Amino acid sequence: QIVPVILSGGSGTRLWPLSRAEKPKQFLSLTAAETMLQLTAARARGAGFAAPVVVANAAHADEVEAQLAAAGAEPQALVLEPVGRNTAPAIALAALSADPDAALLVMPSDHVIADVDAFHAAIRRALPLVEDGWLVTFGITPDAPETGYGYIQVGEEVAAGVHRVARFVEKPRRDVAEAMLAAGDHAWNGGIFLFRADAFVAALERFAPAMLAAVRASLDAARREGARVWPDADAFAASPSDSIDYAVMEKADRVAVVPVAMGWSDVGSWDALHAISEGDAQGNVVSGDVVALDAANCLVRAEGVRVAIAGVSDLIVVASGSDVLIVPRGRSQDVKLLLDAMKK
Ligand code: GDD
Ligand code: MG
Repeated sequence: QIVPVILSGGSGTRLWPLSRAEKPKQFLSLTAAETMLQLTAARARGAGFAAPVVVANAAHADEVEAQLAAAGAEPQALVLEPVGRNTAPAIALAALSADPDAALLVMPSDHVIADVDAFHAAIRRALPLVEDGWLVTFGITPDAPETGYGYIQVGEEVAAGVHRVARFVEKPRRDVAEAMLAAGDHAWNGGIFLFRADAFVAALERFAPAMLAAVRASLDAARREGARVWPDADAFAASPSDSIDYAVMEKADRVAVVPVAMGWSDVGSWDALHAISEGDAQGNVVSGDVVALDAANCLVRAEGVRVAIAGVSDLIVVASGSDVLIVPRGRSQDVKLLLDAMKK
């Protein structure tokens, strides 16, 4: 059985004003009635999957539990981090909590996968190598020189549909990203991983021993109550902060990639959400109390407030409580700049 490991630690500021520190992206309903977290749990359920291990910020314990209970996806363990130390220590918490021979399917809690069957088929292709100790990642065909993703150079085929990772390039510069796109033999790292718990722990032992020791100590001194696990705060805080990509994937030897077309998006901006959503006949994607007259290709979301627009096109309007964002389509990355400006 595969143990889904759901990472719910991001602070998701790029979808302001809906996503905020108290309610980051994974807790929002963006593409369906279900939240991103609920959709994540749902795509790793049923035959072949055990109940998930969820690793989340301690401040979100109630939200995580309520959302998963509402979706009928109770976790076998909910590991609550006292502070964020990035993905490598978070995954280490899960790996040390699971059976050593369990296959862990590590999934961010805030991505969209439109074709779940394709995802499951890719998992099945990878499993024999996983049993053999390989660390496996999933490769997305890139369509733009994004600098916010990791890139994987796809090497020789080592099993049907599974390739050796020739090279791993996390978050490249723009010109480097453009060169990899032009070369045509690189995939985006989808941020989803599959490996045996003991294989990941062995990689940490080799490449990040201080991290492994800190996480192990935090679990040895953990407080437990039902499914909830609170690692010891001081011990966990002593861990170096690093992503799985830098700490392990770039360095390990037996790393494989399964290229897969599965309608993946990390929904990193309002523009991305508009792009993956099915609009109405005018290309508008609306939700909440919205009145739109003679409007086209807009994304409009209203929460706790009514929004009315007329005679506009290619506009993003997101209103939540007392905050309103208005940008033309194509400029939603400016949310970051706006947040900085508002801090001043
Ligand atoms: N529990 C926990 N604790 N989860 C965390 C933490 C943490 O400290 N830090 C991040 N996460 C979760 C986030 O919520 C997200 O779901 C996932 O782990 C990935 O973290 P991000 O911070 O979003 O990573 P990224 O977007 O910079 O890069 C990763 O994902 C890209 C694809 O979206 C990398 O794996 C890239 O290579 C990849 O292309
Ligand atoms: Mg991300």
